[in-house]
Amino acid sequence: MTAGGTSYSDRFRELIRSLTGISLPQSKVVMIEQRLRKRVLAFGLSDMEAYLGQLLEGQGMEEELRIVIDLITTNTTSFFRESDHFDFLVNEALPKRLAQAKGARKPRFKLWSAAASEGAEAYTSAMVLAEAQRRGAMFDFAVLATDISQRMLERGAEAVYGADQLSTVPPDLVKRYFMSSRHPSVAGKVRVVPELRRHVRFRHLNLMDETYPVDRDVDLIFLRNVLIYFDGPDQERVVARLASHVAPGGYLVVGHAESMVVRMDGLKQVRPTIFQKV
Ligand SMILES: C[S@@+](CC[C@H](N)C(=O)[O-])C[C@H]1O[C@@H](n2cnc3c(N)ncnc32)[C@H](O)[C@@H]1O
Repeated sequence: MTAGGTSYSDRFRELIRSLTGISLPQSKVVMIEQRLRKRVLAFGLSDMEAYLGQLLEGQGMEEELRIVIDLITTNTTSFFRESDHFDFLVNEALPKRLAQAKGARKPRFKLWSAAASEGAEAYTSAMVLAEAQRRGAMFDFAVLATDISQRMLERGAEAVYGADQLSTVPPDLVKRYFMSSRHPSVAGKVRVVPELRRHVRFRHLNLMDETYPVDRDVDLIFLRNVLIYFDGPDQERVVARLASHVAPGGYLVVGHAESMVVRMDGLKQVRPTIFQKV
């Protein structure tokens, strides 16, 4: 305990909460400390308490805070994760949007992956939308992928994945949308083809910010497997802010463990995890 009565781990959890909204349970603090041990050594400090002191000082610590965020976020993701959401996207959300836009020569479908991690959700969306184009639907599309972790965003923009990450991608899509090279430096790796990459933009965005510099007519927002890390009031605020970026008739999609979190006038539940803006 410090003189003020707050233990160092409480102050650490509060710092993480204020930076990211992530409510770290006390039980995870030890695991996080293990992840940060290298940073303590890199600064030549004796312990986590001293490291926390440096972080809280703030001055010139912006880059270090970015590293802390990269280290403490859980970035688990995969292509076609919770695949029924992608069926919904092409079989319902897209046709509805195109029907509404009749008359327009080439409507543009806008999708936002709002906790994108390294991009699997964004590229899965791009693949299924590109497939709809191949089947003859006349539209263009743009995918915005945002996350708080700079490291994940860099990976997403690079679009290089381990070949073992493709096990959930149908083989014909692997052939069409991923390329590999014989060069030994990229053995076992694949890269998303440029024709798909050009539809997807990666940007840094902290869901805790009060406003988001994003269009307000997004057709579908994925907000999956991130609300679980926030406390109740933050969950509500994030959902309300994101809802204000959904086009009328558009959708907000959360993870299967998160459907109970979304309770908001103006959002109608059309599936357990899918909410339509009314
Ligand atoms: C478990 S991943 C989910 C990835 C993807 N949506 C999926 O379902 O596969 C959670 C992501 O949320 C990001 N995240 C956590 N707090 C955030 C915040 N305050 N703002 C933006 N992204 C955040 C993490 O960096 C991480 O990449």
